[in-house]
Amino acid sequence: MMTICSIVLVLLFLGAIPITAKQQPATTEPIEHRIDALLREMTVGEKIGQLSQYGDTKPETLELVKEGRVSSLFGVTGAEATNAVQRIAVEQTRLKIPLIFGYDVIHGYRTIFPVPIASASSFDPELIEQAEHVAASEATAGGIKWVFAPMVDIARDPRWGRMVEGAGEDPYLGSVVAAARVRGFQGADLADPRSVVACAKHFAAYGAAEGGRDYNTVDISEQLLREVYLPPFQAAVRADTGTVMSAFEDLNGVPGAANYKILTQILRGEWGFEGFVVSDHDAVRELITHGVAANEADAALKALTAGLDMDMNDGVYQRSLPSLVDGKLPMSVLDEAVRRVLRVKFKAGLFQKPYTDPGRERAEMLTPQNLQLARKLAEESLVLLKNQDNLLPLSTSKTIAVIGPLADDQSDQLGSWSGKGQAQDVVTPLEGIKAKVRHAQVLYVKGVDLPSFESDRTAALAVVAPGPARAPGARGGNNAASLVNIDHAVRVARKVDAVIMFLGERAEMTGEASSRASLDLPGKQHALLEAVVATGKPVVLVLESGRPLDIRWANNHVKAIVQAWYPGVQAGNAIAAVLFGEVSPSARLPITWPRSVGQIPIYYNHKNTGRPSAPDRWHTGYLDESSQPLFPFGYGLTYATFRYSNLHLLTTTVAPTATLRVQAEVQNEGQRLGTEVVQLYVHDQVAPTSRPVRELKGFVRVTLKPGEKKTVDFTVHASDLGSYDLNMHWVIPLGTYDIWVGPNAIEGIQGTFQISSP
Ligand code: NOJ
Repeated sequence: MMTICSIVLVLLFLGAIPITAKQQPATTEPIEHRIDALLREMTVGEKIGQLSQYGDTKPETLELVKEGRVSSLFGVTGAEATNAVQRIAVEQTRLKIPLIFGYDVIHGYRTIFPVPIASASSFDPELIEQAEHVAASEATAGGIKWVFAPMVDIARDPRWGRMVEGAGEDPYLGSVVAAARVRGFQGADLADPRSVVACAKHFAAYGAAEGGRDYNTVDISEQLLREVYLPPFQAAVRADTGTVMSAFEDLNGVPGAANYKILTQILRGEWGFEGFVVSDHDAVRELITHGVAANEADAALKALTAGLDMDMNDGVYQRSLPSLVDGKLPMSVLDEAVRRVLRVKFKAGLFQKPYTDPGRERAEMLTPQNLQLARKLAEESLVLLKNQDNLLPLSTSKTIAVIGPLADDQSDQLGSWSGKGQAQDVVTPLEGIKAKVRHAQVLYVKGVDLPSFESDRTAALAVVAPGPARAPGARGGNNAASLVNIDHAVRVARKVDAVIMFLGERAEMTGEASSRASLDLPGKQHALLEAVVATGKPVVLVLESGRPLDIRWANNHVKAIVQAWYPGVQAGNAIAAVLFGEVSPSARLPITWPRSVGQIPIYYNHKNTGRPSAPDRWHTGYLDESSQPLFPFGYGLTYATFRYSNLHLLTTTVAPTATLRVQAEVQNEGQRLGTEVVQLYVHDQVAPTSRPVRELKGFVRVTLKPGEKKTVDFTVHASDLGSYDLNMHWVIPLGTYDIWVGPNAIEGIQGTFQISSP
């Protein structure tokens, strides 16, 4: 990656500095007319340029910019660097078409928020929207006008490392969160200097990778595709996402970058998407590796005609399209793709305001308000999984031991894809706890080191290519040294009133290309946990990970467990606020938590089967494991206790075009203020195809004081309760439906209603 200095030097070489920034005058002429006018003037090379994105600022790339043959750069950040390259595009090219700068703003730009699966756990779309608005305003201050987010892939397999980047397993929650993120990024007006263009990715079904191995084949029915994997994308399109990114993987035999059915028939034909589609990194060239294109020209032709507008990074369009145009490739297809890209650039206001005000960069990053929001979202993202004997909240007057490799590590709190986040910005859990427990002693021991991602990979590869034998358990550092630390941790634990342990995965073990075959606590952490629990002191386990881990042992032996994911810059303050009761936890699992890796895939909206799970043998399940998860989807405890009563359907029979109104009473029967995420699930008893045992169709966060009772009101459109028939027509089956209002996907108060023709 080039530094700002080297970019500036190259620009001097290209004669691009000093030049005063000129901005094009505002015009009221309709965008489509302005695009027509540009298309009339553009050469084939300039058109192809608008479909080309690069991830570097090498001299060759800047030369292409100067020739008007680059549309977008990604990974170039900062007002100074982006303005410098923008000047070439806007002031030295023939047609002065601005560049659009893209970046992976996955959970914040400089103010790093909790990772996406964590913020989805908040079940708080308004707060998520506000956080994305902050991310957008910081990103634009850094010269970025396009974010490669939200990632809206449904994930049912925790082995897949990218589960951390999405909103979990459920299409309804995924859709609500997808729309909130798009609204947060894009604001009311894309041309606002603090709005960015969103990019819903990875289209489609990337999360269904076989075996959870990243980039792997996906072979699923069209019904599953449409009912589970596509809804969050459709929600993003309805929220007007400017762009969509195609997926790497081969979906039912056709890779995402060349998938006409997905990119054209469904996205444009059925959903009316008017933005543009960008490939994932090098994915056009990878069509050759997939074995569906013979060479680059073939790959370019297949991708563009499938509806893939912009080629990310590999330069295949740039090199191959010129010889295809007006031969195998009609000019009209090229023009249509260019039109889509230019439409987004016009809507984003880039022709009027191509540059970033450099003053904003200093003034608008990491502000107290941004940090405040990061803290609130982190507090709302911590899922309380277990709280035996009300161990939590802890008292601030007790002596505490803080133990574990993630307790005082700054960079891991940020999580994967942490934009411009810096470790120095982070409040670690240890710092947060020390700030909260001012008058009592806090003792800290790291205990063990986390093995690096590299050591895991080397060990895995060693199986393929035998080398010198390793002693069992040697992976991840020096055994003797970690035993010494475990002994030290045990000695410290014995001295205090309570222990808080921070265990989990390194952030780099999650995210892209970070699939795991095991859900164990990496390295020697389990040994540390067992040794500390054996002291008999009350232990609170705080897990930091991008996926559910196998915590069967902990669930049997540890009194309190909190899933913290990666909470971001305000990790320590948020964790301390929840552990010591300043804030009552309110988050819920956006995924089903398996007991063991062998249960995967496991998800709440499964089918009943002809032989539903039961204790006797001839039913679906395992001989050696329960078929129930450790914790269901939607599960999470609070410091309050809620009781559900009086499920009331305002009408028990509705027409397929009508809405159903459902009420239930929820009362806080506990001693503390608490927030309950009240969830509504539905099940169609008889349909043309078998239906999931439950499907989430609504949720609402309700905060209640001790003793307080509220009536929660849901409105559900009967048309949203349908399913696809065998011909892939959306139908609303008439008949009886079950309905539940409750705290998670396996509990709740139940009723039934009918959908019948009017
Ligand atoms: C590859 C990833 O799959 C995608 O999510 C990301 O946006 C691009 N690289 C660009 O960094």
